[in-house]
Amino acid sequence: MLTAIIVAAGSSERMGFDKLFALVSGKPIIAHTIAAFERTDCVDEIILVGRAESLGELQKIVDHPTKVKQVIAGGAERSDSVRAGLDQLNPKCDFVAVHDAARPLVTPEKITRVFEVCRTSGGAAALAEPINDTLKRADVDPFDSGSGQVLAVRESVDRSGIYAMQTPQVFARKLLEEAYQAVARKNVSVTDEVSAVELLGRKVMLVANHDFNFKITYPRDLPMAEFVLKQRAANK
Ligand code: CTP
Ligand code: MG
Repeated sequence: MLTAIIVAAGSSERMGFDKLFALVSGKPIIAHTIAAFERTDCVDEIILVGRAESLGELQKIVDHPTKVKQVIAGGAERSDSVRAGLDQLNPKCDFVAVHDAARPLVTPEKITRVFEVCRTSGGAAALAEPINDTLKRADVDPFDSGSGQVLAVRESVDRSGIYAMQTPQVFARKLLEEAYQAVARKNVSVTDEVSAVELLGRKVMLVANHDFNFKITYPRDLPMAEFVLKQRAANK
């Protein structure tokens, strides 16, 4: 049984307002994200982790009948929100997909593919995007007046074999639980589940994604997401 934990308890600081309720193609971002998992056959249940003050509003967005079995409150850090979801897993659940609610462009096809790779390769797989840009390491230049926007190049970074991590990230439940126990034991902070599993020294597979799955972060991302959804609808 595969359970999706959709984390939606962030504070949207860079957006300036709760980005998950922003309307794109007539629906809130979070509704697009939930719909992708609802339409994915291999996903049995969904746990939605939101901000304590938004749980009522989230509950209203969830359609009925639905795979969303629980709408619960998250924590201060993303990892606290994931942990809150892990604490509520059904005893029958043996695989877990963790997904950022802020990635509404994920598709059932990609979710299914990551799950397949997870199952056939040792229990850990994530969606990732190859990096096409030339990369530099740089830091704030002393000549900058303090805006932090002018940087001095320190060195080039070889981009071969470098991937930007996305979600979903799918794991055997036991492995992900052990990984989060290691995070607590070692008192480290992790920004995704793959980083947690790396603490155990376990192999993680990446599924290269060449489709749009960017994280809605800034106001400029909203019209971009709308455009992608429109294009997909037109190409159906
Ligand atoms: N998230 C969460 N709990 C947190 C922090 C983040 O559930 N304490 C979720 C967000 O809701 C989002 C995903 O993790 O779906 C990725 O986080 P991000 O895009 O950084 O969203 P925010 O943290 O809300 O945005 P910002 O960093 O600009 O405040
Ligand atoms: Mg954040």
